[in-house]
Amino acid sequence: MCGIIGILGAGPAAPRLVEALKRLEYRGYDSAGVATLDDSGALTRRRASGKIRNLEAELDAAPLSGPAGIGHTRWATHGAPTTANAHPHATDKVAIVHNGIIENFRALREELIAGGRKFESETDSEVIAHLISAEMDKGLSPEQATASAVRRLEGAFAIACIFSGHDDLMIGARKGSPLVVGLGDGEVFIGSDAIAVSPFTTRVVYLDEGDIAVLTRAGIKVTDAHERLAARPVHVFSGGVAAAEKGNHRHFMQKEIYEQPETTGRTIARYVNAFEERVEMPDLDGVDLAADSAIVIGCGTAHYAGRVAEYWLEQYGGISVETDIASEFRYRRPAFGKKAFSVFVSQSGETADTLAALRYCKEQNLKTLAVVNVPESSIWREADARLPTLAGPEIGVASTKAFTAQLSSLAALAIAVGRAKGALSTQEEGRLVRALMETPRLIADALTVEPEIEAIAHELAQARDVLYLGRGVHYPIALEGALKLKEISYIHAEGYAAGELKHGPIALIDEHTPVVVVAPHDALFEKTLSNMQEVAARGGKLVVITDAVGAVACADIAKHIIMIPACDPFVAPLVYSVPIQLLAYLTAVHKGTDVDQPRNLAKSVTVE
Ligand code: F6R
Repeated sequence: MCGIIGILGAGPAAPRLVEALKRLEYRGYDSAGVATLDDSGALTRRRASGKIRNLEAELDAAPLSGPAGIGHTRWATHGAPTTANAHPHATDKVAIVHNGIIENFRALREELIAGGRKFESETDSEVIAHLISAEMDKGLSPEQATASAVRRLEGAFAIACIFSGHDDLMIGARKGSPLVVGLGDGEVFIGSDAIAVSPFTTRVVYLDEGDIAVLTRAGIKVTDAHERLAARPVHVFSGGVAAAEKGNHRHFMQKEIYEQPETTGRTIARYVNAFEERVEMPDLDGVDLAADSAIVIGCGTAHYAGRVAEYWLEQYGGISVETDIASEFRYRRPAFGKKAFSVFVSQSGETADTLAALRYCKEQNLKTLAVVNVPESSIWREADARLPTLAGPEIGVASTKAFTAQLSSLAALAIAVGRAKGALSTQEEGRLVRALMETPRLIADALTVEPEIEAIAHELAQARDVLYLGRGVHYPIALEGALKLKEISYIHAEGYAAGELKHGPIALIDEHTPVVVVAPHDALFEKTLSNMQEVAARGGKLVVITDAVGAVACADIAKHIIMIPACDPFVAPLVYSVPIQLLAYLTAVHKGTDVDQPRNLAKSVTVE
């Protein structure tokens, strides 16, 4: 999604704006721009379509001066990713950057055009600049004009503005999209997330829904949705600059795959009492884990984590579970049982559909539980209770360590539900907790298979279509494997339940179609082996991910075997996530795609 940075600083703003925009590349974008106030107090801007290096070339050719400025990375929604549509949008009075969507922009635009204003872009965002200018033309101050304009905007947005002739003023407003203020020494910053301001400060203020923040170098003044002065706490952002570096890795995605022993360990440790071999949940604010049913909602990878949780909550928790994709759930007016709770899974905590689904459940008086990675994000704040995932900032657009951290939190939830429902004995809980505690080590062992996967990836990179098969709890892992491969390598891939193969997908099998099978030697292995035989009989190339016992059983039919350490079936989805991530990653590297910022994708999808 789009990224925002604003600086009221001491030195030249333009190079620092560009530095911050580079931190925001991970969100996905297709144009970028900056505006500053020059020494005479006039607004000047440079914009470019494509990568930030194109913007840098513009700035090299015609540098911008001045210590105050705003910058933006745009992911096109209304209007193509052209230079004219790139932010900042400006009039002679104000320059603005905007994230989100202004739903009533057409009506506002027509009204402003009828009033004599000239538009130069096809964006919804440009109306904000004209609306503020029109208010200032009526004699309002920048602060009053912004508040008045914001009142007229419908939709979800975060904006930052600077004003000609006001070199010690920047205004930010948020409704639906996140915005943070960074506090430096005699300098202030604004950003679409804490990572944006992290090169300059670790002290951040997270704005609340409906807040307007007026920044000067001396400090900030925040008014809330009811236009009352509001005090917002200052947090210390610990993700920091180091967390946003690649270290020794070639890509952020690779770094994040390799962080998983640590990130799953951190997350599991949060919920496990290792001494008593019990799960310990934080205060869940009235969420009754002894409920009869649960609804688990998310999008993309987060939805697949929820699908794994469905198996866990039913098998170990003893409750009935429904999972859905947030964008479907929110519009189908679902009915709920009387004793139910709802779970929302999201890395960013800002996914528009997941947030809307959460709000729907709250309206239905259903208790809401957020499994979220970004603290203080919208889903985090709006849920009744939260089970944080402690993956740290995830920069690669394709989710990896956030997925296994989600699985870690959800596994702990399943055990807690099992205890609350009386479905698990103390001994069984002890076994599951021990298995969870072994998981980071097993993930570290699974990472050592990279060299073997490298050779297979070389072959996979030649494929046009790839099928992924799995059974039971590994069916969602097959879905996730297919999603990872298509996202970053652009190879068409589909995940299927292995037993569903003969009901249609088997028609796709030929000698050119690799079939990746997620098949630990568990209670369902023999069934999956039959499906593998069906593939082999039709000339399909089997890539089997299994353990030592499974490897022996399929040695004569598999073209390739990726051998993973044997593990308790409970935690196998966490461990088997690693080879499917590496397979997608190494295939994409062979293909030479933009692994960390795959085309058309955004890290945080804050629009429907
Ligand atoms: C896939 C991926 C997406 C996200 C989805 C939900 O690699 O990253 O499918 O999982 O957009 O995002 P969050 O988890 O931020 O709600």
